[in-house]
Amino acid sequence: MSRTCLSIVLAAGEGTRMKSTRAKVLHEVAHRPLVLHAVDAAMRAGSSETVVVVGRDAESVVRLVSGFEPPLRHFAQEERLGTAHAVLAARGALADRFDDLLVLFGDTPLVRPETLLAARAEIAAGAAVCVVGFHSAKPTGYGRLIREGDELVAIREEKDASPEERLIDLCNGGVMAIDGGRALDLLERVGNSNAKGEYYLTDIVSVARSKGLSVRLVTAEEEDVLGVNTRLELARVEAIWQARRRDEAMLSGVTLIAPETVFFAADTVVEPDVVIEPNVVFGPGVHIRSGAVLHAFSHLEGASVGPKASVGPFARLRPGTDLRDGAKVGNFVEIKSTTVGQGAKVSHLTYLGDASVGAEANIGAGTITCNYDGFNKYRTVIGAGAFIGSNSALVAPLLIGDGAYVASGSVVTEDVPADALALGRARQVVKEGRGREINARNAARKAGQS
Ligand code: UD1
Ligand code: CA
Repeated sequence: MSRTCLSIVLAAGEGTRMKSTRAKVLHEVAHRPLVLHAVDAAMRAGSSETVVVVGRDAESVVRLVSGFEPPLRHFAQEERLGTAHAVLAARGALADRFDDLLVLFGDTPLVRPETLLAARAEIAAGAAVCVVGFHSAKPTGYGRLIREGDELVAIREEKDASPEERLIDLCNGGVMAIDGGRALDLLERVGNSNAKGEYYLTDIVSVARSKGLSVRLVTAEEEDVLGVNTRLELARVEAIWQARRRDEAMLSGVTLIAPETVFFAADTVVEPDVVIEPNVVFGPGVHIRSGAVLHAFSHLEGASVGPKASVGPFARLRPGTDLRDGAKVGNFVEIKSTTVGQGAKVSHLTYLGDASVGAEANIGAGTITCNYDGFNKYRTVIGAGAFIGSNSALVAPLLIGDGAYVASGSVVTEDVPADALALGRARQVVKEGRGREINARNAARKAGQS
């Protein structure tokens, strides 16, 4: 579409029903704040500019939207006098005259770009306003859409609706497209003589109709326009988001053995031909390359997993983990700020923090990098092809050269040159017959007690 489009995301509300110390739009779905889901949908619907109206916790919301390149403009709504009043807070952006205006709610994160594009298409076809509606078996609380034939004539908020109007199951999804050239004029004509004494955005419908303008309707699935008002709805929206994302992953070539048990973050990237076993959870910032296998019950955050790498079962990859081609991280292994080289193996019961492991190295069971002295963190560098024996403590800062061999049970405090053997443990002592003597003495002691 070559038409220009301004999107205004309303995110000023109190969100009282969340019973939270934070504004509602800061709460997260798939580790992404609600408001950014709406912003994302607006951008994917071809917005030329997206702006945000802020109120409660304005500073935090502004910080989120200034992360974009270029940062999004924001407008403060000082008093919460209703959704039309909120849109008018962005008057400065409206004055720029876009072809289309989209209004989205910051608490409605599942809206599809296709729906927004369909609404914009109605504006392109000559409508002054296009409302996104949905049918609901439980319409209570939503504005009801009042129609005459194909045209929408009014939206009645629950509190202002007559008993007959409350029976209407066609509801306002909150998202609206408005003719950019007419938007400011129409919005300024919205009054506040209603049950709540608020300036309702929904009244723009009757305002447009009274001027003889055309108002259209496009419909969406109820779950696409689900608004988050309580934590119950937050959990419902999360569940729907995850279900959609799992379907997308599978259709893009990712195998999920038990899809309903896998939880993605909004920014998770999984390439085709990755296999994800049951109960894998993604935090933010994860990229999985083709051919990797994530075994059951693994938790990944801020991690890059290379092609054909293998993770878990029961592995935890924390931020700064970088597994190269074919690397293996096995059960009960925790990794943080560490690169594991091509083909290297960290198979069991290990903690690696602030380290790098060379290609084809083998890290034995129970190896721990002692990276922290209670105040500072230090690095451990393990060379290519090195072998670290089981149950070794590697006290950083530490350099272990290529091909070096650390004997199991070692506490390694000094650097180990390439190809050297390091033993950092007491030498074993064997005393012939002494075991039998100890057993006899202990047996006699037990007999004396009974
Ligand atoms: C609104 C609609 C209703 C629709 C429903 C869909 C109006 C008058 N009503 O009702 O028809 O069925 O959404 O979910 O539009 N906000 C501000 N400033 C304000 C008021 C609200 O920024 O002064 C923001 C809120 O942060 C929120 C959004 O606007 O993101 C919607 O406000 P909310 O109070 O949740 O509206 P609803 O009562 O749900
Ligand atoms: Ca709402």
